[in-house]
Amino acid sequence: AMATAPHVVSGTVRCNDQYNFHLENQAALCIPTDTGGMDIMATTQWQDTCIETVSQILGIPESRISVETQRLGGGFGGKIYYNAPVCGMAALAAYVTNRPVLMNLDLHTNMQSQGKRTHYVFEYQVGFDDDGRIIAIVATGYGDVGALLFNKGDEYTVGYIDNVYNIPNFKWTVQPVKTNKPVSTAVRAPGTAPAIYGMECMIDHVATYLKKDHLQVRKLNLMQDGDTTLAGVVLEHCLIKDVVAQLEAQVNIAQRLQAVSDFNKNNRWRKRGFHVMPNRYAMVWEGRFYTTSIYVNHGDGSVHICHGGVDMGQGINTKAIQCCAYKLGIPMDLITVKPTSTIVNTNSKYSAGSTTTGLVCLAILKCCEDLLERLAPSKAKLVNPSWREIIKQAYLDVVDLRAHYMPQIKDKYPSEHYSSWGACTAEVELDVLTGQYQITQVDYLNDTGTSLNPQLDIGQLEGGFIMGLGLFLTEGFKFDPMTGQLLTDGTWEYKPPLGKDLPINFNVKFMRNVPNPTGVLGSKIVGEAPVSTGACVLFALKRAVEAARAEQNNTDWFPFHAPATVESIQTACLNDLAQYTFGN
Ligand code: MTE
Repeated sequence: AMATAPHVVSGTVRCNDQYNFHLENQAALCIPTDTGGMDIMATTQWQDTCIETVSQILGIPESRISVETQRLGGGFGGKIYYNAPVCGMAALAAYVTNRPVLMNLDLHTNMQSQGKRTHYVFEYQVGFDDDGRIIAIVATGYGDVGALLFNKGDEYTVGYIDNVYNIPNFKWTVQPVKTNKPVSTAVRAPGTAPAIYGMECMIDHVATYLKKDHLQVRKLNLMQDGDTTLAGVVLEHCLIKDVVAQLEAQVNIAQRLQAVSDFNKNNRWRKRGFHVMPNRYAMVWEGRFYTTSIYVNHGDGSVHICHGGVDMGQGINTKAIQCCAYKLGIPMDLITVKPTSTIVNTNSKYSAGSTTTGLVCLAILKCCEDLLERLAPSKAKLVNPSWREIIKQAYLDVVDLRAHYMPQIKDKYPSEHYSSWGACTAEVELDVLTGQYQITQVDYLNDTGTSLNPQLDIGQLEGGFIMGLGLFLTEGFKFDPMTGQLLTDGTWEYKPPLGKDLPINFNVKFMRNVPNPTGVLGSKIVGEAPVSTGACVLFALKRAVEAARAEQNNTDWFPFHAPATVESIQTACLNDLAQYTFGN
């Protein structure tokens, strides 16, 4: 297919490492028990790894160890694996001294010891026709996995590398690269965000090469129902064309592009850039399971939930309470979520992939159905009873007032695969001489199905997008090339976005009236989808840099690596401006 393509371009782009930047660092409090075991409170996204680690280090059965987690001060993937060594070290010290030991890493140690987001270098060749319709892609992602081949550098990139485009011939290879850095780890949208950025770079190259409108080239290649993604999923309920159309109407793209073009004609040292980027987040939940139980207290009818997920700010406990209240028909303040504990929730998977909340909610709905069925005979004995009266009667009838469920892969509800669709526009104003810029406006439209909790979901979309701004614009690392040691291990040198880096106008909206037929109560997952969308601002900046370069009669494509820091943006402009200014 590549050989028959009228045009072929090739290039290399990189997407750097990123640190999870949870505000709370890795910590573990280990207390020896009188049975020769260990009670642990740990800041982990996966308690079972802590138990396994401690069991192996101390040589005691897993059943003598328990791990409890109330909630995390942020996890962002960094506490899936990297809490286990902290538990292991603290437990060893507690075991040897027979005293409680608290280990709480400081920021520098946390940043030094913990692996980062896998750093990818994408090498690609794209074949396409005169209009920009893509015919073939051959691409390789070189993933810096650190000192061990632990995650194979893949991170489900195959599920995301085609983003929202139907590419009839796509050869995608991942090549893990071993380096002298700590083993890379999941960071919100692992593999996903870099892969989508890689795809967007490829299609950007096509549009620049053909000197065509970037949105038109993207629209030409959009997926639709019946198309098969690279990961082999046949699309149903594909909304991407609707999302893009709605966003186009909402923000009046044609008018905005004209205004940017007028501004750029009238200004030599300040340039504006405007860009539209669509994106897809594929929900995959194979291999995820979370033991979930609800218990009703007979004294007052209050309910407590024990689930195997961990609340890290994504709102899992709030949504769990909502689903329980909705199904049982009782007020939310009658329901509490207990800390996640291996005493009742052992054998749960890590909280990640944005699927935990959906699966725990699904399990709670099933628990409630089960419980309501068991309560029905007691209820039937009473006339118009309150919830409290039903529970009192059920207690007298010796009804088991707990219910338990573990979602299985065989559950087709929610379906094994669906995608959430989004599109974003970003406008920036760049100071050509310094590389500094303002993000003047971002409009982001996302399909969350019927949101279970709009405030939470808007928060996730905004927060994820801003984390994407860090990945694509500000969070650059420096490592010692000889030793692999991190040289930028604090906020003096490493810059996650802060208040003044945010878009001045930041409008985040949901698609309306698009319930997800296969999601929990019509909803869609939301936690990681927005990270890749942050790349829209990088491309808007690229448009602004192109406007500056065009005045040097340079309209060639150039790679724009992530993070596009102020320094690199300025350099991208300066290369040509040096010639212009000094005439050499
Ligand atoms: N939101 C907050 N506030 N804090 C976090 O640590 N983690 C993100 C996302 N949103 C995170 C967050 C990541 S990395 C993931 S995978 C999902 O939440 C986890 O959602 P889930 O528990 O529903 O799978």
